[in-house]
Order: sequence, then structure tokens, then C-alpha cells
Amino acid sequence: MRQVVGKQTRDLDAAAFAQLRERYRSLVLDLGTGDGKHVLTVARAQPDALVVGLDAAPDAMRATAASAARKPARGGVPNALFVWASVEQLPAELAAVDDVHVLMPWGSLLRAVVAPDIAVLRGVRTACRTGATFLITLNLHAWRPPVPEVGALAEPTPDSVRDDLAPRMAEAGWVLEHVGYASAQAVAALGTSWTKRLGSSRDELAVLELRGTFV
Ligand SMILES: C[S@@+](CC[C@H](N)C(=O)[O-])C[C@H]1O[C@@H](n2cnc3c(N)ncnc32)[C@H](O)[C@@H]1O
Repeated sequence: MRQVVGKQTRDLDAAAFAQLRERYRSLVLDLGTGDGKHVLTVARAQPDALVVGLDAAPDAMRATAASAARKPARGGVPNALFVWASVEQLPAELAAVDDVHVLMPWGSLLRAVVAPDIAVLRGVRTACRTGATFLITLNLHAWRPPVPEVGALAEPTPDSVRDDLAPRMAEAGWVLEHVGYASAQAVAALGTSWTKRLGSSRDELAVLELRGTFV
């Protein structure tokens, strides 16, 4: 798979990834990681997890990847890994994932989640172990006004997610256990760059949070 480290993109082969993976108890995958800030937040909070940030566009994560690669004494985060790949073509090495995060997706990733695209969701499910968990946060500004990727789909609400989206996601092995608007504190705790934009209490109905388990 293609690993992003600052300005460089390196090939990380299966053996090298396996060696890295075996140092940690669990594997967390952040799909559409953007600038990767959430990866650092999770990796610092869970030092026994390998936290992989993956994005189809490599440039936004380069600065975060560079700082993660520093020595720990200089602020480095050894259990954070940044990968250039799309959710449609996940690297085969990403297997037995324990926890999947999809935060504020846009583009084809947003479409895959809300349409939903069953083939893409199945691909992610296949990369996970049974019983693994997922967290999705949807930035509802994508519907205010609607971006092209959401097309004619109405803005999701907790009810519409439970009634319409959850049964479709279940076809791909994603079982919804909780859906609700995220509080400003919950958004802030994610540690993404979207916190500043969406974390204000005035905007408390702007993020929908979905949590569940892969079966
Ligand atoms: C709005 S950004 C959110 C970034 C980050 N999750 C956050 O919360 O700060 C959405 C990200 O999804 C990525 N993305 C869109 N479609 C994707 C796909 N098919 N595969 C992987 N990443 C994708 C984009 O490149 C972009 O970085």
C-alpha cells in the first residue's frame, strides 16, 4: 500500500505492514481522513491501537503524517499510519480491522454511505473482523443546499436513518445501534479540523452521528 510520510509517498509492503501491525492490539481505520488530525487524536488516546488514516487525496494529510513520523520525544505518534487509497479499492493488507471511522465524508465516500453503495460498504465490512464497530458522522451542511453527491436524497434525520438507511446498510453487514444529532462536545472530542466549523452550540443539529457493529 502507499504510505504517506510528509512530502514522500512510499511503498509499504505486506510484510512490513504485518510487522507493524503485530506490535499493536487493535487496528482502527479512519476512512476519508482528510488532514488526518483525528488519527492523531485517536492514536494518542489508544496507544495500543494502530490507527490508519486513509484518503483518496494524499496532500491534505502530508503535514500531519510528517509530524507523526517524528521521534516520540519531539511529538511523533508511532502508532499513526497514513495511507493513500480510495475506499473503493482498499489495500488488501487492511484486514481484521476493529473499528472504522468515517467522519464528515464528502465526494464518493459520502455517496457510498448515504446512497448507500452496497458494494463499497461490503468492501469495508470484508476488511473488518466480525463484531468490529463503526462511527460515522455526517455533516448535514452537505444538504444545506444539497451537494451533487447527495442528489435527490433528502437530508437524513434520526428517523429516516433508522427506517430507510439502516436496513440497506444491514445488507452489507453494517448494523446500526445508535443514531442521533451529535453534541458540540462530541464533535469537539473527535479532534478533527471540522470542530471549529461545526462545534458551535448554535449549530447543534448540523452533525448526525451513527454508531454500530459489523456482523
Ligand atoms: C470533508 S473531508 C473530511 C476529512 C476528515 N474526516 C475530517 O473530519 O476532518 C472528506 C474527505 O473524504 C475524502 N474522500 C472522498 N471520497 C473518498 C473515497 N472514495 N475514498 C477515500 N477518501 C475519500 C476526501 O478526499 C476528503 O479528504
